[in-house]
Amino acid sequence: MKCGASHKKWAGRCDACGEWNSISEEAPLAAGPSGKTLGAGKGRKVALGDLSDIDKPLPRMASGIDEFDRVLGGGMVPASAILVGGDPGIGKSTLLLQAAASFARSGKKAIYVSGEEAPSQIRMRAQRLDLTDAPVKLAAETNLRDIITTLEAERPDVAIIDSVQTMWADHVDSAPGSVSQVRATAHELVTFAKRRGVAVILVGHVTKDGQIAGPRVVEHMVDTVLYFEGERGHQFRILRAVKNRFGPADEIGVFEMTGSGLQQVTNPSALFLSDRENKTSGSVVFAGMEGTRPVLVEIQALVAQSPLATPRRNVVGWDSSRLSMILAVLESRCGIGFGNMDVYLNIAGGMRISEPAADLAVAAALVSAREDKPLDADTVVFGEISLSGALRPIAQADNRLKEAKKLGFSAAIAPSRMKLAGESGMKVQTVDDVGSFITACFGEIDA
Ligand code: TYD
Ligand code: MG
Repeated sequence: MKCGASHKKWAGRCDACGEWNSISEEAPLAAGPSGKTLGAGKGRKVALGDLSDIDKPLPRMASGIDEFDRVLGGGMVPASAILVGGDPGIGKSTLLLQAAASFARSGKKAIYVSGEEAPSQIRMRAQRLDLTDAPVKLAAETNLRDIITTLEAERPDVAIIDSVQTMWADHVDSAPGSVSQVRATAHELVTFAKRRGVAVILVGHVTKDGQIAGPRVVEHMVDTVLYFEGERGHQFRILRAVKNRFGPADEIGVFEMTGSGLQQVTNPSALFLSDRENKTSGSVVFAGMEGTRPVLVEIQALVAQSPLATPRRNVVGWDSSRLSMILAVLESRCGIGFGNMDVYLNIAGGMRISEPAADLAVAAALVSAREDKPLDADTVVFGEISLSGALRPIAQADNRLKEAKKLGFSAAIAPSRMKLAGESGMKVQTVDDVGSFITACFGEIDA
């Protein structure tokens, strides 16, 4: 059961997610003493409060690593549970050791429990990161009962559990990493966090298909879910909040993996655009927003005659179904066909974009590549394309323009009907639909 669904008996195919051969036997969670349902009348009456009884908000604990704190909405909240997911080897342990050290140096008590590495290995990493003087407490342990007992005795401010898949709860009768083990481990640790006012960070490995291995259930149990992502071969790493009960979701923190650990990148736009070649066809700069922060990224497209009956559609860093939609709109609303051509789309720098506001920049890159006509190098593009080919206005246009101005761009192409608060100093050309946008940028185009 890859999806976490449960079945009464073995079956070849899961009814819940349609996956074949993914069902395996696991012990069910313990039922009540009699094994029956709860029944009414035996519980204790709980105290009920009013919405106006607001507790004073707890102070947040900032780690001092700004990019990390930003993603959390200004630091960690005591008594909260945070899941940090990511591919193996992406840098989760490195990030959290650095965060733990930074916490500990600010006078907070931090405990780092590793189920994957021996203390000597962690110390070696700390040496490389130049953190050996930080008063972080280490343990290499996988037995959940011992870990909880230790944490109960020590009462740290922050506890890091690396990783939830290596932990083993002895009251659950299945292997570490299995759905029931991970669920039990997460449940115990989240309960501990709430009970003792400790911020608990759980590390989770993500499987190839982008799910935290086994259970998505952990995502529902914790307060905050962060993903640490990046392309292999690129040094950039992006920490992204996908769920946050205590702050904005979709906020990102940008890091660079160096020989001595993760360095913060305070101006990601400059980094993502740093090795841009000037004025090549198929390259368009998109003025995007990631959470509260504007980020400029280069979108690259390559279009070539295809020898294949079904031409290739290759996308890195963007949604491939969204690409199909843009290609369909270009074809049926503007008569610009890509039918017998291979299409490659790449977001430079290993960045992943999920904003629909990138549509117009993608369309521009595609047409620019197909026609081999570069767009002006000092121009940024943003706007969402609807199926009719019309452009929808998008939010936060002012912030996008300000960032573009700051990075030396002087013109923008954007949807009309957009609300602009102030003068940005940019030359903004507004367009109503993709067709008129393409004519304005590239002239008349043959089908
Ligand atoms: P790690 O934090 O162990 O990844 P995870 O916990 O997500 O599995 O990161 C391991 C990678 O990071 C490894 O390939 C080596 C690289 N690395 C550096 O480039 N510089 C460093 O200073 C450190 C500690 C690791
Ligand atoms: Mg690790």
